[in-house]
Amino acid sequence: MDKHILEAIHSAMEKCKDIKEGKNASYIPYLASVDSNLCALTVVDKDGNIFSAGDDEYRFAIESISKVCTLGLAMEQWGAEKVRQKIGDSPTGLPFNSVMALELHKDKPLTPLVNAGAMATTSIIDAKDKEDRWQQILDFQRKMMSDKVALSDEVNTSEQTTNFHNRGIAWLLYSAEHMFCDPMEACEVYTRQCSTLVSSKDLATLAATLANKGKNPITKEQVIKEAHVPHILAEMAMEGLYEESGDFAYTVGLPGKSGVGGGLLAVVPGKLGIAAFAPPLNKYGNSVKGVKMIRHLAKDLGYNMYQ
Ligand code: DON
Repeated sequence: MDKHILEAIHSAMEKCKDIKEGKNASYIPYLASVDSNLCALTVVDKDGNIFSAGDDEYRFAIESISKVCTLGLAMEQWGAEKVRQKIGDSPTGLPFNSVMALELHKDKPLTPLVNAGAMATTSIIDAKDKEDRWQQILDFQRKMMSDKVALSDEVNTSEQTTNFHNRGIAWLLYSAEHMFCDPMEACEVYTRQCSTLVSSKDLATLAATLANKGKNPITKEQVIKEAHVPHILAEMAMEGLYEESGDFAYTVGLPGKSGVGGGLLAVVPGKLGIAAFAPPLNKYGNSVKGVKMIRHLAKDLGYNMYQ
């Protein structure tokens, strides 16, 4: 079985190695400068075994995958139902930074996995001030992955000096009473949470923590209550890849989450976590090779939640 996983990883990477479609994200200047040829594919199973190939030690920006961690922390503090009532639970069918999605729904974000909902989720973290809010979120990312996870000053500066669109969204939420701390504090801390550096091994550990009922299979720490995990996976299945979530559900059949840094993860509940990394993105902001590698790998290993 173990040999089979590694063989399937190599086979998925081989099938996708010549794909040239997609472009690095450019609205965050740092991301445009990352080598587009980097590529990694990693599996961490529920017992903490790691199967991996490619540039799996390279550290890249977590970006929107951080939304899953902050959602988990918010649920630990408030319970899943309270978070659902405040933020919402449904896909928007629109891009991850859509203002129109807000306009259509009385400025309620609908889901914690788009930028609006993620900033609102950051704003409900029970914190005494901005630094406390940030530290709690960073600590939670580390618990779900590893202690190696750290803020990149370079990525953070690149994002904080260009995040005007998100600042606009934060003020819109605030004006509609869907922001639960100072909006610029929420936006700044959210931007920091997107600017931590992770490897594909870290992301596969995050996915495996969700696959393992909230217990990190490497550190053996119960990070998320078991009861919260199905709610997080449901959100990922519906909105984890934005407007491509339906296609991913249809063709892969696993809850996933993407980031514009080129990271993508998928969860096989009760079994293992998968993470891919390849910077060029499609029009939805998801890694082109990442989607295809995970599609091949999941099929080869016979994992599809709906089968
Ligand atoms: O807020 C942003 O736009 C970025 N920091 C993160 C967006 C992102 O990763 C969307 N996912 N594919």
